[in-house]
Amino acid sequence: MSDDSPATSPEPLPLPPVPSYAARRLDRAALARLTAYGEALASDGVIRGMIGPREVPILWDRHLLNCAAMAEAVERKAKIVDIGTGAGLPGLVLALVRPDVQVVLIETLQRRCDFLSEMVARFELVQRVTVIWGRAEEVPPQEADIVTSRAVAPLKKLVPWCMPHARIDGRMLALKGQKAEEELNAAHKVLHRWSAAKHAEILTCGTGWIDPPVKLVSATRRK
Ligand SMILES: C[S@@+](CC[C@H](N)C(=O)[O-])C[C@H]1O[C@@H](n2cnc3c(N)ncnc32)[C@H](O)[C@@H]1O
Repeated sequence: MSDDSPATSPEPLPLPPVPSYAARRLDRAALARLTAYGEALASDGVIRGMIGPREVPILWDRHLLNCAAMAEAVERKAKIVDIGTGAGLPGLVLALVRPDVQVVLIETLQRRCDFLSEMVARFELVQRVTVIWGRAEEVPPQEADIVTSRAVAPLKKLVPWCMPHARIDGRMLALKGQKAEEELNAAHKVLHRWSAAKHAEILTCGTGWIDPPVKLVSATRRK
């Protein structure tokens, strides 16, 4: 969803109202935090080129709620590392809707890291969320329970970026669309190198409240 260049329009659009199905699903405090973050993305985020202005009308459905639904696959008190987090998707969203998790956000563009650090301060997440400016493949291993990613690279390329940050028996969770199966097949060899090929599967989150539900590739690191 990220857009490298600052928006040409000086007039950001407002964040659309919270969809009723989200209000039924998320608790009130989580929804309030998510709304405030959505408003920051729709205003400052657009002006600073964190997201494109055309993303604003679809912020809830396409972005915030897709990422929030990923929480269904996250165990309690997990340490999460989010690779290529951009403006905070899904890592910051997971921190906002799940007060029990610790999150490390790894992002290679400095100005996105600046925005992320401001969000961390604004939402008082400094105890639970760390921002690392760097390339995932160059950052020291983080020993995470879960390594998340969304819209960063094809699975084949993502595996060697994510797996070093997972502890043994930890897993990577890559948010993928309709091509999840195809990407999983194409990544078989590289997953095998991490003894993860036999422990890879497609998970679906958001069934019954997000349309279409979210498809994740989950692969567990065994060595
Ligand atoms: C298309 S954006 C997606 C951002 C966010 N995950 C989302 O879903 O909106 C990809 C992001 O990954 C970052 N990125 C690309 N390669 C990376 C790497 N090797 N390590 C860390 N971040 C990377 C880019 O700077 C960019 O912010």
